[in-house]
This record gives sequence, structure tokens and C-alpha cells, in this order.
Amino acid sequence: MMLEEVDIRPPSERDGGDMWRAARDAGTLDVNTPYSYLLLGKHFGGTCAVAKRGGKTVGFVTGFRPPGKPDTWFVWQIGVDAEARGQGIGRRLLEHVLGRSDNADIRYLEATVSPSNAASRSLFFGLARSLGLDCEISAGFPAELFPDGAHEKEELYRIGPFTYQP
Ligand SMILES: CC(C)(COP(=O)(O)OP(=O)(O)OC[C@H]1O[C@@H](n2cnc3c(N)ncnc32)[C@H](O)[C@@H]1OP(=O)(O)O)[C@@H](O)C(=O)NCCC(=O)NCCS
Repeated sequence: MMLEEVDIRPPSERDGGDMWRAARDAGTLDVNTPYSYLLLGKHFGGTCAVAKRGGKTVGFVTGFRPPGKPDTWFVWQIGVDAEARGQGIGRRLLEHVLGRSDNADIRYLEATVSPSNAASRSLFFGLARSLGLDCEISAGFPAELFPDGAHEKEELYRIGPFTYQP
């Protein structure tokens, strides 16, 4: 079967609902409020992306530059539709944001990852490898900080410094 091409672009607030649905359907992501995805689309579109195939949202990444760390892209969430996984879309979402001219000054990527999330680990390790770098892992958010008592710890992954060449 020929798969339709995947188009990746920055989101606007009009993509907020689709990002929320994608997060809900991903299975392993914390589902934030719909409002937060609208907000990310409206105010943080430059460091977020949506992947569309045949008009359908098949993936998204959200992130921002933490205040006080303007050279760092903190990846908040990334999700790819279960049927579209393993086709390089997750990697392309990351590379798309890094490849934007407005983001040419980004030198570090940070994300927090649960130790049991093999796909997410591979995604960030693979990106680090392609940049010729290691992915440094340190304590992120310990489990006891999460108020519902049912959340695995989140380790902090850090890649950099790099100058991304699209
Ligand atoms: C994590 C996720 C976004 C990866 O997206 P994807 O489009 O399937 O990833 P890619 O096809 O670009 O693969 C990237 C790398 O991860 C590897 N990988 C993908 N799925 C994997 C899996 N289930 N187990 C191990 N490795 C996996 C690929 O082989 C590839 O490795 P490489 O760089 O060495 O070639 C996707 O699995 C997902 O949506 N998971 C649910 C949501 C989630 O947990 N998000 C991350 C937490 S914020």
C-alpha cells in the first residue's frame, strides 16, 4: 500500500483540539486540558509541530524555551498515532522544529522520559546519535512529586550543545 505523504508544520490554535485528541489517544501521555493545547498552538507554535497525513493529524510535538534558558528546547510531549508509529514521524517532528530558521540558535534539547518508555528513549537516543552526541540522563521529577501517587518518575534527558543542520 502506498502511504500518503506526511506534511509537518507549526500548529496554530486551530490545531489545539487535534493535539488534545492525539494526546488522549496516545495511551501513555498525561492528557492536559484542551485549553493548554489551544494555548500552545497560539503562543508556542514556533516550538511545536503537527504531522498531517491526508488531512488527519497523525502526530504532534509540543515544547517551549524555558524562561532563562533561551538556547534550550524543552520537549513537553510528543505523540504519534499508533498506526503511524515506527515510520520515522516522531524523529521528523523533532527535526522539523530544530530545522526552522527561527530555531537555528537552539543548542540543547531537554525532555523528561519515564524509564519504562522504550520508544521515547529510542527516539531521543537516536536523535543524539545522529548529532554525534550522547544523551545525558539525570534526575528529573521523582515519583513522589506527582500528586496522584500513580506516576512513574521522569528522568531528564539532555542533548547538546549542537548546531542543527537541516
Ligand atoms: C515515542 C513516539 C512518539 C515515537 O514515534 P515514532 O514515529 O514511532 O518514532 P520513529 O519512527 O521516529 O522512531 C524513532 C526511533 O525510535 C525507535 N522506536 C520506535 N518505536 C519503538 C519501540 N516501540 N521500541 C523501541 N524503539 C522504538 C525507532 O527504531 C527509531 O530508532 P532509531 O533512531 O535508532 O532508528 C511514539 O512511540 C508514541 O507516540 N508513543 C506514545 C506517546 C509517548 O509515549 N510519547 C513520549 C513521551 S512524551
